[in-house]
Amino acid sequence: MPLDIFDPQHYARVRLPANAPGALSLPPWCYTTPEYFQREVERIFMKTWNFIGRVERVEKPGDYIAFDFVGVPVIVVRDKDNKVRAFANTCRHRGARLLNDGAGNCRAIKCPYHSWVYGLDGSLIGVQDMEDAKSFEKKDYGLIPIRLETWGGYMFICFDPDAKPLSAHLGDLPQKIDGYRLESMRPRFRREHDIACNWKFMVENFLEYYHTPYLHLRSVYQKPVNFLGQAGAPMVVLPAEQGTGDYVFFFMPHEGTRALLAGDTGFPLMENLPGRIANGTTSGCILPSAMMSFHQDCTWFLEIYPIAHNRTKVVQVGCFPDDAVNRPDFEEVSQRYFKRWDLVMGEDVDMLPKQQKGAENSLAVAGPVCHVEDKIHAIRHRWLNQVIGNSP
Ligand code: FES
Ligand SMILES: [Fe+2]
Repeated sequence: MPLDIFDPQHYARVRLPANAPGALSLPPWCYTTPEYFQREVERIFMKTWNFIGRVERVEKPGDYIAFDFVGVPVIVVRDKDNKVRAFANTCRHRGARLLNDGAGNCRAIKCPYHSWVYGLDGSLIGVQDMEDAKSFEKKDYGLIPIRLETWGGYMFICFDPDAKPLSAHLGDLPQKIDGYRLESMRPRFRREHDIACNWKFMVENFLEYYHTPYLHLRSVYQKPVNFLGQAGAPMVVLPAEQGTGDYVFFFMPHEGTRALLAGDTGFPLMENLPGRIANGTTSGCILPSAMMSFHQDCTWFLEIYPIAHNRTKVVQVGCFPDDAVNRPDFEEVSQRYFKRWDLVMGEDVDMLPKQQKGAENSLAVAGPVCHVEDKIHAIRHRWLNQVIGNSP
């Protein structure tokens, strides 16, 4: 490993297009060193919109969730007027952490140390024995706000007050997947995985289907015809969607849903899906790490919480449209989707720590890029622009 891992020269071949001779993946140290991870926290996660799941996580007034995002303790709470806000999980008195990680419902947020009380809108509403403190006014000591915006029922937070709004971050993506009726999607499946790997390995795994016929041979890969063409034929490159916005998405054309294992039947496909989305799956990443997959009968996504260079919490969430959730056979039929999600995710979750271990080998070096890894290579370029800078 070089002494200065941030020297742009080390990334010249990574900057080549995926199909250019000599193009390389990111060097191993980008996945294995605390220094590179720290730079990503500062230049990526502290600067942009981070995905934290569906608004149904805080469905009713008073519902809250508390969690760490890249080491920052965060509270998300829905107030009496149904507005959802995010705050730093830290008391304005002497900094105590206010809520333990997890989810719950409260009428107000009370500090466990000296019992200062905050309203659901973050304002300080109750203090003890502060009458003698000169110039103290409660209105000056509300919780520290964190920007929170939603789109289609998906929540994003941003730690940077100067970052562009979420709408600019998403660009034209909402129009492109408008037809999936995201507002009517109800989360019914949630699994947490604590994975001993770098967060980028999870993102890359989601964005490439090179591994599908091999790692997922016994689950979703369907012989003799697979979703990329005839078995034995070269893999087809599914082109990345072009448009404005910080995303890398692609469309995979096929008949029927791919959210089930072969032979299983599920819910009816959503009616009147417009255009090509009636016959295929739309998948991709809203940068830096919101992984989403939209099917004709459901949608699922990953919430990604980077913890350290070699540790990532990944939450897989599956959602169904209201029409499916309200069916009398929902419990029974949905199990088939859950089976598929658990099986395939299990194969990936099992693989990723092995990839991390291999990358941590002191003899490991960057490898070449396969032509169907074009999406992950494109996203590497955008990460590099943030971490190293725009110049090659
Ligand atoms: S630290 Fe919270 S009330 Fe003192
Ligand atoms: Fe996979």
